[in-house]
Amino acid sequence: MGRATNVHWYQGSLTREERWSHLGAKGCTIWFTGLSASGKSTISSAVEKVLVSRGVRAYRLDGDNLRHGLNADLGFSADDRVENVRRVGEVARLFADAGSVALSAFISPYLRDRDACRQAHDKAGLPFLEVFVDAPLAVCEQRDPKGLYQKAREGLIQGFTGIDDPYEPPRNPDLVLKTHEMSIDQCVDACLGLLEQNGLLSGP
Ligand code: ADX
Repeated sequence: MGRATNVHWYQGSLTREERWSHLGAKGCTIWFTGLSASGKSTISSAVEKVLVSRGVRAYRLDGDNLRHGLNADLGFSADDRVENVRRVGEVARLFADAGSVALSAFISPYLRDRDACRQAHDKAGLPFLEVFVDAPLAVCEQRDPKGLYQKAREGLIQGFTGIDDPYEPPRNPDLVLKTHEMSIDQCVDACLGLLEQNGLLSGP
């Protein structure tokens, strides 16, 4: 519990099982983590498209996009990144609870914060699948689609992940995607396989 006092949880009259059963849905979170330009947005977006075209509820929560709205008040200090990831973890959990596949695509550089998101899902009885989008820094820097690595190298951006800010890779991810060795289609298939293995693709 944070600063809010005198607040009480209201259970509602619909259980998650009833909701999912009526909707023919199963919720979960796929959490993509990796360096900027590693391919998180590309892959999560491709997975989202395939899932929705098959009638599976899926929604992408993208770092750059959420920083235009919900997280527009946050920068890239360590504290702000912690809060950024905490908020997205909460939003993903809500989407998952609602019966969607929440596809979260954030650098989310700190192990502890990602673990906290996993724990929040575990506590809520919701599946959390961590996908390490594992392209080497040299490859991300070569891709540099937004020109940000170059700016960071020139000292125009401070605290850029991988350059002068840390990235802590997952110790035990559910899936590793080496996007410099795999095609987008192969990455998408691997994500669908992960959902399938966890019994999250078929109806309830
Ligand atoms: S996170 O570290 O807090 O998880 P998030 O995924 O939301 O980051 O945002 C990362 C995106 O913000 C990058 O892809 C890049 O476009 C942009 N960005 C701007 N400044 C930085 C920075 N200092 N470090 C990393 N990414 C940055």
